[in-house]
Amino acid sequence: MESPFKGDILKGKVSLLTGGGSGIGYEIAAELGKHGSFIAIMGRRIHVLDSAVSALQSLGIQAIGVEGDVRKKEDAARVIDATVKQFGKLDILVNAAAGNFLVPSEDLSPNGFRTVIDIDAVGTFTMCHEALPYLKNGGVIINISATLHYTASWYQVHVSAAKAAVDSLTRSLALEWGTDYGIRVNGIAPGPIEDTTGVAKLITKEVTLKRQKDSAQYRMGKKWDIAMAALYLASDAGNYVNGMTMVVDGGIWLNSPRHMSKEEVKQLSKTVEKRSRDAPVGVPKSNL
Ligand code: COA
Repeated sequence: MESPFKGDILKGKVSLLTGGGSGIGYEIAAELGKHGSFIAIMGRRIHVLDSAVSALQSLGIQAIGVEGDVRKKEDAARVIDATVKQFGKLDILVNAAAGNFLVPSEDLSPNGFRTVIDIDAVGTFTMCHEALPYLKNGGVIINISATLHYTASWYQVHVSAAKAAVDSLTRSLALEWGTDYGIRVNGIAPGPIEDTTGVAKLITKEVTLKRQKDSAQYRMGKKWDIAMAALYLASDAGNYVNGMTMVVDGGIWLNSPRHMSKEEVKQLSKTVEKRSRDAPVGVPKSNL
């Protein structure tokens, strides 16, 4: 799909994306690159990075891939160093690396819980912390989050806790680093996005079909939808947005079961209004 943004909105910017070798991270890398940014992607699997870099370069984007695990502080420092060595600076950090699996909480070991917290929450903080010295001239951070923790989600106790922490650090860093250095720190909370590992791991086709039947609003998003939100937040279009996690899910997170039909609501409303009009003064309406 064609971007509605001008092709040069990120001209000369340097972006580093964790988890940039595949899925949502790759798509954001490609769109930031198509809009003028130099791109560095970080990931654990070198063959994934290599093919992502080739794909980016075939789009005319100047890109490098640097192997590293966001759970390791020394990897974070090394990858940021390599990015700055290659492109001379760092303007935009996108934290898209994440870990996930479905598991009932009673079957999840504390180490399994810790592993996801380490990747999502500690990893995001580590990358932000190591990148800070380079972002002090009005840099931008975008943290990829989720909507799981707005209420509660089945079999996702670890990820919900991790993403709640990510959202919280988005706000705290926006406050502290926005005030001190003019850095904007925002998040994006994607809904179910087709062709991603997340959806492959978390949702079956049957669940998708059932939810589509229940709500006209329920549909899969595209990686492109998330990349457009990232472009908005990374560019001057999002200049006045800080500390905000933008939900990009077509409204799915608002989903709530309907308890009454529209007809029942009309009837109930009329009856209640009539009762309160007819009530003698001083008699509690609950007694009528
Ligand atoms: N169910 C229950 N526990 C699980 C699990 C599952 N499906 N997968 C891993 N764990 C537990 C392990 O048992 C282990 O705990 P233990 O030592 O108490 O047994 C702990 O989690 C760490 O597992 P390990 O496989 O060593 O971690 P890893 O660092 O190799 O991999 C994961 C990290 C588990 C998050 C892996 O799924 C991953 O790398 N994911 C990245 C890609 C991804 O998930 N993308 C989707 C983003 S939405």
